[in-house]
Amino acid sequence: MAKKIVTDLDVAGKKVLVRADFNVPMKDEKITNDDRIIQALPTIKYLIKEGAKVILFSHLGRVKEEADKEGKSLKPVADRLTELLAKEVAFVPETRGEKLENAIDALGNGDVLMFENTRFEDIDGKKESKNDPELGKYWASLGDVFVNDAFGTAHRAHASNVGIASNIESAAGFLMEKEIRFIGESVDNPDRPFVAILGGAKVSDKIGVIENLLEKADKVIIGGGMAFTFFKAQGKEIGTSLLEADKVDLAKDLLERAAGKIILPIDTKVNKEFSNEGDIKAVPADQIPADYMGLDIGPETVKLYERELEGAKTVVWNGPMGVFEMTNFAKGTIGVCEAIANLNDATTIIGGGDSAAAAMQLGFAEKFSHISTGGGASLEYLEGKELPGLAAISNK
Ligand code: 3PG
Repeated sequence: MAKKIVTDLDVAGKKVLVRADFNVPMKDEKITNDDRIIQALPTIKYLIKEGAKVILFSHLGRVKEEADKEGKSLKPVADRLTELLAKEVAFVPETRGEKLENAIDALGNGDVLMFENTRFEDIDGKKESKNDPELGKYWASLGDVFVNDAFGTAHRAHASNVGIASNIESAAGFLMEKEIRFIGESVDNPDRPFVAILGGAKVSDKIGVIENLLEKADKVIIGGGMAFTFFKAQGKEIGTSLLEADKVDLAKDLLERAAGKIILPIDTKVNKEFSNEGDIKAVPADQIPADYMGLDIGPETVKLYERELEGAKTVVWNGPMGVFEMTNFAKGTIGVCEAIANLNDATTIIGGGDSAAAAMQLGFAEKFSHISTGGGASLEYLEGKELPGLAAISNK
């Protein structure tokens, strides 16, 4: 990587600012999935071992006004990290000021501190999210060097990533480096055949990814709600299935440009209502009844996609194949997940978001080469866009 990584920095005895993405799902102030915390451990453990004074911070959720702070403190994350490290992570419930500065000054080599949700600075004029130059400068003044390990936030240009990196020497953490290596290099320099599988509800969310991957991949397999806009573009009747009427022409254009590279479902699991109960059946893709909606790919499509995946050397998957939250419409996503997980000798990557959650829930996590911790960030990276958080890190 052309960017510095944490091992390029001299960190012993230094105050090292570490931006992580601890934006973890929470319910009743309890963390429901700690994967992002676990993925941040290698960088934190390395810095402790090297005798750095580790200052951790992150955003958590979105905060516009005082009332939004409720339930968005990073304290539960500091507590979980204390357990995972088997070492005290001192939590300072401030984002600036004397209390925080004194706590940092009191750190010994190998000690770890976490300060409060960076987006608490958004209440008064969106200072964090608008990358207020004074805030970036202030946070940078709290440390000697900066390690950005927040790949999940790399598509944002905020004070806590870009702002700090504009003021002091910086480097990517191990997680950031790993994400870039897997997603970046697999897309730009893949072992072939390279197959992309894209799902999710809307074509509009995935236009950039489809366009970029059509150029790079050997096949682009489509599933999820967005398949129906492609069906419409082929002149098929789609009943009451999800349709983005204003994207039909674009879908037509993509199909023409793809020259056979786009592979669409051949059957669909339908129901009369958006419900897990009712008259659920699989029908051929061109025979969706007028009063039914498609909610998952059908069993013949799962078999087709298994065949299309055979022999693939690189697979990137982003987006579920159906409404997998409803058990009767989860089989398409499970089938595709299983087919990818069972590939031998292939680099298999899940580009974050719902598909990552599905693979983890289904117990397939260990079988993939890489499951990205980024949702929006992996999508933008797969689109071929520059990520500001990454771009701002010091070059080697
Ligand atoms: C994410 O979960 O995608 C990242 O943490 C970014 O969060 P944001 O969309 O609120 O900026």
